[in-house]
Amino acid sequence: MRRKPHLRNHIAVLPCDGAGKEVVPEAIKVLSAAGAELEFQDYDVNADQYLRSGQPIPAAVWSDLQKADAILFGAVGDPRVDDAAYLAGVLLRLRFELDLYVNLRPAKLYDDRLSPLRREDRRKIDLLIVRENTEGLYVGMGGRFKKGTEQEVAVQEDLNTYLGVTRILDYAFQAAKGEVVMVDKANAMTYAGALWQQQWKAVAKKHPKIKTRHLYVDAAAMQLVRDPTQFEVIVTGNLFGDILSDLTAELIGGMGIAPSGNINPESKRGLFEPVHGTAPDIAGRGVVNPIGAILSASMMVRHLGHNEMANAIEGAVESAIRAGECTRDLGGSLSTHEVGDAVAKRLKD
Ligand code: NAI
Ligand code: MG
Repeated sequence: MRRKPHLRNHIAVLPCDGAGKEVVPEAIKVLSAAGAELEFQDYDVNADQYLRSGQPIPAAVWSDLQKADAILFGAVGDPRVDDAAYLAGVLLRLRFELDLYVNLRPAKLYDDRLSPLRREDRRKIDLLIVRENTEGLYVGMGGRFKKGTEQEVAVQEDLNTYLGVTRILDYAFQAAKGEVVMVDKANAMTYAGALWQQQWKAVAKKHPKIKTRHLYVDAAAMQLVRDPTQFEVIVTGNLFGDILSDLTAELIGGMGIAPSGNINPESKRGLFEPVHGTAPDIAGRGVVNPIGAILSASMMVRHLGHNEMANAIEGAVESAIRAGECTRDLGGSLSTHEVGDAVAKRLKD
């Protein structure tokens, strides 16, 4: 059941580290300008807190996060902490334990000039990657045997369950209007591939109006560069979705602009975050692009049932980009705050 739009939703805000701290306030500024009636609560989840307490997410914060209607997230990462343990303790824990099994990574080109592609007819990009978000190679199963010796063996397991594979395929068909392309590597990863192939055929049968196509991931990478306009919805596993969505981000203007949503369609839980990380090379100087975070906030309000507001935010972003009111990664000269202001102004006018 959809939430009624007039209810005030409680949003847990986790800017976290680096660029995340700079872009999330701009997303909130834009939500307010769009008239969103949301209650925001900020949480101290970041590397400083982790270094102090040893807990990536303190227990009291965790219980609040479980109750929030949605989570607005920045990015985690800090050279003072072990990246893998910290990422697992914050972002992967949220994805896994809140069972946010759908990772939506749309890629839409808002202005021709942002495309790295030569041919103009290949630039009408508007596609959606539906990435499985709770299984695959990211579950952290495996180990190191004879660690530190020349006999060391490292095992990293690729977990694929009937439930996990079936539900992500199902979601992709529901998200598509015309065609779903399933991407795997069933020719080399035969066991997991067989399960994906089996359920792909079974789920496709339930959606006879939607066209289907299958690509191996290497061919998919090639086709995405050759002609991304051929794609509407791509559904794939955790690792391939992670990699291909960085590629599609670059096709529409780069890491600064790509949004994402981690959702559970049944429980309606959701975590919304820009695809980028903490951008340590440019963070703290007021130049990081807030558009990825702003578009993630737009996905959040869409998820909460406010479609018109989401469209308005997207429209304001598109218009600011076309007017050249952007940070330098998109060829502009505005600061992070100024881009937030430029988008917010269009929503207030
Ligand atoms: P990154 O996404 O932070 O940066 C990659 C490149 O994109 C850099 O050149 C950066 O300057 C640029 N970039 C990123 N965000 C931008 C923005 N908003 N505007 C303009 N340019 C932007 O990825 P990287 O460098 O691999 O990782 C840095 C840190 O972030 C690491 O600690 C990593 O673990 C963490 N990370 C966290 C993620 C998350 O919280 N979801 C995702 C990816 C990385
Ligand atoms: Mg990634």
